[in-house]
Amino acid sequence: MTAELIDGKAFALRLRARVGEGVARFRAAAGRVPGLAVVLVGEDAASAVYVRSKGKATVAAGMESFEHRLPADIDEASLIALVERLNADAAVDGILVQLPLPGHIDAARVLLAIDPDKDVDGFHPVNAGRLATGLPGFVPCTPLGCAMLLKDQLGDLSGKDAIVIGRSNIVGKPMAALLTAESCTVTIAHSRTHDLPGHVHRADIVVAAVGRANFVKGEWIKPGAVVIDVGINRTEDGLVGDVDFGGAAMVASAITPVPGGVGPMTIACLLRNTLVAAHRRDG
Ligand code: GUN
Repeated sequence: MTAELIDGKAFALRLRARVGEGVARFRAAAGRVPGLAVVLVGEDAASAVYVRSKGKATVAAGMESFEHRLPADIDEASLIALVERLNADAAVDGILVQLPLPGHIDAARVLLAIDPDKDVDGFHPVNAGRLATGLPGFVPCTPLGCAMLLKDQLGDLSGKDAIVIGRSNIVGKPMAALLTAESCTVTIAHSRTHDLPGHVHRADIVVAAVGRANFVKGEWIKPGAVVIDVGINRTEDGLVGDVDFGGAAMVASAITPVPGGVGPMTIACLLRNTLVAAHRRDG
């Protein structure tokens, strides 16, 4: 292996410590602590693990965590009524509705009900629009974490050729918007892309967010590229990313491992966004 490992775990711990210091200053100035409400619908095991980790991290940073667990058969109107109560609750600075939601609930309608200024996930269309147009708002946590790792690794990103593989609203599209804002030349690739290996081979920065184990091959990577692997895929060999790590690490200059790369950055950025939300609401 020649690539440097990008230690997202260590970066995330430093960011969480900085957020904790910021929370202490906020508390001294505002006389209250920032609050994050997390809503979990149903019993999805992976979602329950994420929600527990988010709650623990929130408390560890000195903030208040409000957890709302709702049964899988709750109706959409009741879920939206809860979101509206949280919008109006002065102790709540950030609201996160854990996805995926059960099939009978229209997730887009629920996300639309969240006050954009409490939308610390950055999923509300108003925040997507703010990101696309360069206005201050909330940026989804996973792509925000990826951008922080890239800037830490490379410094100025301007003029770099970047490819984002995956076009989801949660990762691919906001990642492309962030890289565009950093003056990269951005390609968004997806399941219909022709000659994906050729596109990847031109990129100085590769962000893989497709949700398929070992999908991006080492021989596609341009020598010296920086590779950010957003994938977390459960396989017989344990957790693996979307990138063939062994192959890519032979040619890249730097790469995020799975686990320990992008994953820890998501929660750290959620805490950061919640502190920012508290400041915007209350000095
Ligand atoms: N499900 C998987 N990732 C996320 C996330 O970042 N936020 C929410 N709300 N749900 C998710």
